[in-house]
Amino acid sequence: MKVRESGMPDEEVWSEFFEPKSILKILGINKTVRDIADFGCGYGTFTIPVAQTVRGKVHAIDIEPEMIEETKRKAEKRKLGNVETITRDFVSDGSGLENESVDYVMLFNILHLNNPEKLLREAYRILRRGGRLGIIHWNYDSTTPRGPPIEIRPNSEQCIEWARGAGFNHLIRYDLKPYHYGIVGVKE
Ligand SMILES: C[S@@+](CC[C@H](N)C(=O)[O-])C[C@H]1O[C@@H](n2cnc3c(N)ncnc32)[C@H](O)[C@@H]1O
Repeated sequence: MKVRESGMPDEEVWSEFFEPKSILKILGINKTVRDIADFGCGYGTFTIPVAQTVRGKVHAIDIEPEMIEETKRKAEKRKLGNVETITRDFVSDGSGLENESVDYVMLFNILHLNNPEKLLREAYRILRRGGRLGIIHWNYDSTTPRGPPIEIRPNSEQCIEWARGAGFNHLIRYDLKPYHYGIVGVKE
């Protein structure tokens, strides 16, 4: 089941909202990280810079074949051999990844789904001990130029509470100006 309000505007519009490289740095995605899962990779806005940064594999999952094709095309163009694209519904079917098989899970602009706790438990399951969870979401502010309706948009305190409930510790919030916040947590 596709996450509610998870459709994307044109890529030029979407990419104006982020500085992916600086966001990845703030959220601790650097050369020390090995394998990553990107839930809802979209245009590959973050997948591609992540694949250029980390040492291991990037599992890029999306329900939309067009998004997967776009991410795959970008990876091939840049000769990135470490992007594994997966067309899959992670809400209904989970990620399909093995227990404790990745070092970082990206939940970027996706936690406004109906059952965020279930997705966070899936993230926890696939992370190795010491692995990290990274969340990005639109600020809880109805004046942002995009983002899900404020009624279903989680604020950072809610995300932290859900992540803690799923087992994550050391949850820290970051300001990702101008329109987003980030959260990083650890699976101890
Ligand atoms: C708002 S976009 C965010 C894309 C990317 N994470 C980013 O921040 O640039 C959400 C993405 O999640 C995908 N998606 C929505 N529901 C999904 C599901 N149930 N399983 C897999 N992907 C899903 C959408 O197709 C879309 O590409």
